[in-house]
Amino acid sequence: MVRPARKRIAVLVSGRGSNLAAMLRNDCGGDVVVVGSNKADAAGLELARDAGVATIAVNHKDYADRESFDAALVTALNRYQPDLVVLAGFMRILTPVFVDAFAGRLMNIHPSLLPSFAGLDTHARALAAGVKLHGCTVHFVTNELDHGPIIMQAAVQVDDDDTPETLATKVLVQEHQVLPYAVRLFCEGRLVVEGMRVRTRDCAFAPSPAQMR
Ligand code: GRF
Repeated sequence: MVRPARKRIAVLVSGRGSNLAAMLRNDCGGDVVVVGSNKADAAGLELARDAGVATIAVNHKDYADRESFDAALVTALNRYQPDLVVLAGFMRILTPVFVDAFAGRLMNIHPSLLPSFAGLDTHARALAAGVKLHGCTVHFVTNELDHGPIIMQAAVQVDDDDTPETLATKVLVQEHQVLPYAVRLFCEGRLVVEGMRVRTRDCAFAPSPAQMR
């Protein structure tokens, strides 16, 4: 039997890249073939280079508007023929020029239990709202910011003495488990999108995201 080709994964980062690192150290069921950033000095790019992964930097400041930046990014990524594009801490709002180019194969990790706390400063906002559970969400990207079919979530308890920083630390541990796990489900063709719901076809490889390191 001919084994299907491994999926080609592109990852976009703007900062430290700890989610990228989690994808690189776990078996995501595919290969990270390129890491891109809008910031040439993003630590995530360094991390990719150290892992022998190709990198691209497209500076948003070189473009007149969001659409032309997005078009340049699409062109740069398409050279690597990605099957999946993962936004792992990519801090740019993307226009339909980008989102539509990768529709159905564009994933984001967001540090809240969506649909609560879309946007920025999620940990401080969660504390201010007094929620007792907080967490992270991996979802397919649509043209509505931090919206789109939810693939996987993980929750953490909010303790009385939590600060935005301690909460961020707790949530990040979960991010590092659910993101590689969700990517693996995608790469193995196990995600079935039905409207806003994502079903997982029988999944034999691992009983839980907690198996991710
Ligand atoms: C993560 O909290 C992610 O959810 C958010 O940005 C942060 C990126 O962290 N979108 P890192 O660069 O992966 O360490």
